[in-house]
Amino acid sequence: MNKQRRKQKEFLSAALGGPIPWTGKDMRTAHAKLPGLNETHFTAIAANLKSTLEELKISKDLIDQVLALVGTLHDDVLNLPKPAK
Ligand code: HEM
Repeated sequence: MNKQRRKQKEFLSAALGGPIPWTGKDMRTAHAKLPGLNETHFTAIAANLKSTLEELKISKDLIDQVLALVGTLHDDVLNLPKPAK
């Protein structure tokens, strides 16, 4: 879990415009081998992130921005088919 926490923190920092680029796996590859990963899991992670940011007294505006970004990862994390271009 420590490694997991560190990686998720690093990924989100980079994804939210932080100075250190993300050099790990893309989100589709990172979660590809997790059988049964579904909506419930994704919603739980997003809800935990939201309550953490609220606990840290981050403004609602910023929390909304973070959650909007996390929402863009939904299909990749759950390995849903990519929409046709
Ligand atoms: C917004 C949603 C999520 C984000 C941003 C996220 C982020 C990450 C990152 C950055 C990694 C590491 C990739 C690497 O090794 O380079 C990872 C791996 C992983 N994530 Fe997620 N994740 C999300 C959702 C979930 C969910 C819903 C689950 C399951 C409940 C999950 C379980 C895992 C597991 C088991 C690994 C692989 C650990 C390993 O093989 O070492 N993640 N995730």
